[in-house]
Amino acid sequence: MLTTFLALVLLTSTTHVVALQKLSLTSRKAPPGYASNLRRRALSATNVPSVDWFSGTDLQWYANISVGTPPQSISVLFDTGSDTLEFASTWCTGCQNQVQFNPNASSSYVDGGVDNAQWNSFATGVGVNPAVGDEYAFIIQPGTDVVTIGDLTAQNVSLWVITNQTEAFSIDPFSGIMGMSAIPDGPFAALIKDGLPAVFGMYLTPHDVGDAEITFGGIDESKIHGDLKYSTMSQDAAPSWQLESPGIAVNGKTTSFLQSNRTMLFDSGTSNIYFDVNTTEAIYALISPDIEPYAPEPTTYGLPCAKFKDLPATIDVAFVDDSGTPFNLTIPNSEFNLGPFPGNATQCQTMISTLFENVLGASLLKHYYSVWDVEKLRLGFAPNGVAE
Ligand SMILES: *[C@@H]1O[C@H](CO)[C@@H](O)[C@H](O)[C@H]1NC(C)=O
Ligand SMILES: *[C@@H]1O[C@H](CO)[C@@H](O)[C@H](O)[C@H]1NC(C)=O
Ligand SMILES: *[C@@H]1O[C@H](CO)[C@@H](O)[C@H](O)[C@H]1NC(C)=O
Ligand SMILES: *[C@@H]1O[C@H](CO)[C@@H](O)[C@H](O)[C@H]1NC(C)=O
Ligand SMILES: *[C@@H]1O[C@H](CO)[C@@H](O)[C@H](O)[C@H]1NC(C)=O
Ligand SMILES: *[C@@H]1O[C@H](CO)[C@@H](O)[C@H](O)[C@H]1NC(C)=O
Ligand SMILES: *[C@@H]1O[C@H](CO)[C@@H](O)[C@H](O)[C@H]1NC(C)=O
Ligand SMILES: *[C@@H]1O[C@H](CO)[C@@H](O)[C@H](O)[C@H]1NC(C)=O
Repeated sequence: MLTTFLALVLLTSTTHVVALQKLSLTSRKAPPGYASNLRRRALSATNVPSVDWFSGTDLQWYANISVGTPPQSISVLFDTGSDTLEFASTWCTGCQNQVQFNPNASSSYVDGGVDNAQWNSFATGVGVNPAVGDEYAFIIQPGTDVVTIGDLTAQNVSLWVITNQTEAFSIDPFSGIMGMSAIPDGPFAALIKDGLPAVFGMYLTPHDVGDAEITFGGIDESKIHGDLKYSTMSQDAAPSWQLESPGIAVNGKTTSFLQSNRTMLFDSGTSNIYFDVNTTEAIYALISPDIEPYAPEPTTYGLPCAKFKDLPATIDVAFVDDSGTPFNLTIPNSEFNLGPFPGNATQCQTMISTLFENVLGASLLKHYYSVWDVEKLRLGFAPNGVAE
């Protein structure tokens, strides 16, 4: 397990499960490590409606899963930037604000023991907070139990219960995080072993559009409004979901520095965008000389709120699809203003903060239907029909 994760996002509910298209297993290549497990019956994909945590700006999408016998409903966000499933438990000393899973009340829970507990921290947290130090960290203890996602149930799923966490997590309206990295773990891995196709689709939408959804084991064609372009990752990318980008443009303009190769991580658990410092400042230089670091929140940048009006700030991040054809993933102008900083009504946060890696989060993912193909280790993007 990694000790540093990019944080997170969301998923699943047992209500409104819509039956989906079935993907034939025989037509799909097994992912590394799963070949021997793709057998017997195929499970059909399940759609899981998700709720948008909105606070002035879209923060995360989450939904219920159920865990244990009898089932306990636990809300989690589906995070392509981390690996494991973990959620608040009644064994936790700092989880009072969240719904807690009670392992003692589940007859099927098997405790992995306090001796195997781990400490994990996240590089990005929920919301628009800066990524600093160990603000987002928790202690998790392993176990196994029955987990149901949508209408799919897996037995003996490896998971982690949170036994302590930092204060920063206590504002979360959900109880935990389900990692959806490119090397599946927990319930998704268990479902794949049971025959579910190793792919998921994400339809993350702005708050005023609603209807967000994650599809496990397939893609929801009804959410795709245009060409679906696939780009295969490098062999050693997993467990990260990442692609190489040959360049970034801002309002149709670029610089020689911005036209260089960068690794871009795709993280449904990150609300906005992170680039390294030089990339961030090169982009901001093409937008407005008034954008500056916001000292009270290191790594963030801001602009007087009044100056956002009519500010063009459309960002094209270039990629190359599997046929060798370039395509852009575009973050529209509407994403640029994250709203006023806490305690400063006149200074508004701009979308990009700095980090040691480049992370494309929900500010971008909201504008595409995204396909996360574990079997072929590729990412797919299509217009999702949501107006900007
Ligand atoms: C999860 O289930 C609880 C009740 O079991 C319900 O109150 C809550 O709204 C659900 N949350 C989501 C995100 O669907
Ligand atoms: C819950 O289970 C743990 C681990 O098995 C045990 O140590 C603890 O005493 C139990 N708590 C209650 C209230 O039964
Ligand atoms: C549950 O999974 C673990 C590995 O994660 C395995 O060692 C154990 O035998 C499994 N138990 C059952 C009952 O299948
Ligand atoms: C739980 O975490 C908090 C905050 O990090 C810390 O102050 C506290 O000592 C921890 N409690 C236990 C029982 O580990
Ligand atoms: C990507 O965006 C850049 C800058 O706006 C533009 O010059 C280029 O033509 C776009 N590429 C494609 C394939 O649309
Ligand atoms: C950028 O990446 C492409 C594709 O991997 C490669 O062909 C090219 O040589 C790289 N350019 C530089 C300047 O490294
Ligand atoms: C960022 O820019 C500074 C100043 O131009 C330079 O010294 C530094 O090496 C650059 N860092 C990276 C990672 O490119
Ligand atoms: C808000 O932020 C701006 C820019 O950093 C600063 O000049 C101003 O003093 C801040 N106002 C308050 C009330 O903190």
